[in-house]
Amino acid sequence: MVQSECRLLRGLLVCMCVAPQLCGPLNTVRESLNVTLRRRFMKMNFPINYTIQVHYEEVFRLRNISRLNTSNEEEPLQERDLQDLWLWVSQQGIKRILKVLPERHPTRRKYLSNLQNLFNNFEGSYNQLNPKDEERILPERIQNIWDRLTEQDYEGWKSVTPKSILDNSYRTMLCLFKECFSKEDDNYDCK
Ligand SMILES: *[C@@H]1O[C@H](CO)[C@@H](O)[C@H](O)[C@H]1NC(C)=O
Ligand SMILES: *[C@@H]1O[C@H](CO)[C@@H](O)[C@H](O)[C@H]1NC(C)=O
Ligand SMILES: *[C@@H]1O[C@H](CO)[C@@H](O)[C@H](O)[C@H]1NC(C)=O
Ligand SMILES: *[C@@H]1O[C@H](CO)[C@@H](O)[C@H](O)[C@H]1NC(C)=O
Repeated sequence: MVQSECRLLRGLLVCMCVAPQLCGPLNTVRESLNVTLRRRFMKMNFPINYTIQVHYEEVFRLRNISRLNTSNEEEPLQERDLQDLWLWVSQQGIKRILKVLPERHPTRRKYLSNLQNLFNNFEGSYNQLNPKDEERILPERIQNIWDRLTEQDYEGWKSVTPKSILDNSYRTMLCLFKECFSKEDDNYDCK
């Protein structure tokens, strides 16, 4: 009896649909990531060609998604695996940019601090509505990425522009949470 309930529960946990209640907080994130704001705060406010250092795995683009999604049919991904990565990488990117910005920099005060809060709000709802299945063993290629993302003695940093971090976050969001966005939004094919 108990066992069958567990199985049922586990079945629910792997449901691949995005809970509709997530779309509110996610749309708020999207509004703050719109192209006008990204350009103003992430490009115009920085010196030309300014870059910061990130782990290679913190570059998460549409191409990564299609590569990961198709690269091994024997260990299929759940949508959730990629959404988790997206969330972590986006938050990490914001932290990295904040770390190099002076306390009074307008991008910090008028944009990124708020954006960070919006991501944290989203994360709260996401974890609540979509609790992790702690027993699930991640596909190896996903686990490898997590290992690299959290590696202490990381070597081989990559230079990227601050804007590219949010550009990638925006595009991959539209691909990974399709249910939350209307057809009129910029439609990024996941391919
Ligand atoms: C982006 O958001 C800002 C502030 O809400 C708004 O003024 C601007 O028109 C928006 N840009 C686009 C392209 O939607
Ligand atoms: C910025 O980078 C571009 C492309 O790498 C280069 O052509 C340009 O000269 C650089 N601008 C400055 C001001 O360094
Ligand atoms: C995305 O692909 C680039 C190479 O194009 C790679 O360096 C990076 O680690 C990949 N990111 C993830 C999260 O797998
Ligand atoms: C991953 O591949 C599956 C099966 O081909 C497809 O249904 C799904 O939409 C893909 N997911 C993404 C995020 O591209």
